[in-house]
Amino acid sequence: MAGVPQPQSDLIPGCPRHVAIIMDGNGRWATQRGRPRLYGHHAGARRVREIVECCPIFGVDYLTIFAFSTENWKRTQVEVAGLMNLFRRYIIKETRALVTSGVRVRFIGDRVRLDRKLTQMMTELEAATAQNSRVHLTIAINYGGRDEVARATKRLAADVAAGNLSPDAVDEETLPRYLDTHVLPDPDLVIRTSGEARISNFLLWQSAYSEYEFIDTLWPDFTQAEFQRLCTAFGGRDRRYGGVRR
Ligand code: FPP
Repeated sequence: MAGVPQPQSDLIPGCPRHVAIIMDGNGRWATQRGRPRLYGHHAGARRVREIVECCPIFGVDYLTIFAFSTENWKRTQVEVAGLMNLFRRYIIKETRALVTSGVRVRFIGDRVRLDRKLTQMMTELEAATAQNSRVHLTIAINYGGRDEVARATKRLAADVAAGNLSPDAVDEETLPRYLDTHVLPDPDLVIRTSGEARISNFLLWQSAYSEYEFIDTLWPDFTQAEFQRLCTAFGGRDRRYGGVRR
């Protein structure tokens, strides 16, 4: 593809180690073309592949993408079923490429409400890629930041009740060990496409000190070149974490 970054030659100085993306705008992209919303989601899934591919080239070690929120069940039954079907198709279609290209896949979110076939496929993909470490791809399905903190707190409270954890030991280091993301670093950069400037319940705890990019591009139009531009711009950010410039 013209303009596609080349392996080994496009490492970005100061590249964010962990990028999280709210992939918004599939529906509007499809509507602009007079097509059903699912057409946009299918186009969005193709973008996922392209963005995953360029992560190791730029130097992004962790990519976390918001595929379905705890609030997305409010959509029509046709759209929800279509998205669930798309996730199954994605796993079937992409497994081989993900395994051979060194991508480790994890899923976050509450699996209880998902259909058994899908959760089985998710677990199998996680197992099939468990030895990989070139890029860590985390896909959020039936994920909500508040729901995640509530589920984490429930498990933490159970440990306290069982005498495995003292209430005095609960602090900012302890709670994240109960989050779905416990093995991941916090995101350095959160990108939201489609012109909306809100975080919609995504990685609430983890993004406390993330840098944000809200861009107008609809997700199916998001290119590797734009991703490269955002990762490069991140290198120039002054991150002070509440402190002062050093
Ligand atoms: C938000 O756009 C997008 C979603 C709720 C679904 C995201 C899913 C994908 C990108 C597809 C596939 C993902 C994987 C991992 C295979 P929207 O529908 O809310 O867009 P709108 O705001 O224009 O209506």
